[in-house]
Amino acid sequence: MANVKITATENGPYLIDGSATFTDAEGNEQKTSGSMVALCRCGYSGNKPFCDGSHKKEGFTAAPIELTVE
Ligand code: FES
Repeated sequence: MANVKITATENGPYLIDGSATFTDAEGNEQKTSGSMVALCRCGYSGNKPFCDGSHKKEGFTAAPIELTVE
């Protein structure tokens, strides 16, 4: 099984590195392709569940966290 690395960047999105399946807020199943995907954690993205860079404009602040799922 491939590892998936999830990084909550400082003051920014979750970066998903690896193949993963998740369910968005509307209940739709989403899949990552194995390349890096940025998911919004600030709540301001106009393209949820993906980050569109709005966290910078809104001044979102949060501590970084790193997690590896095996
Ligand atoms: S984390 Fe980037 S728009 Fe929300």
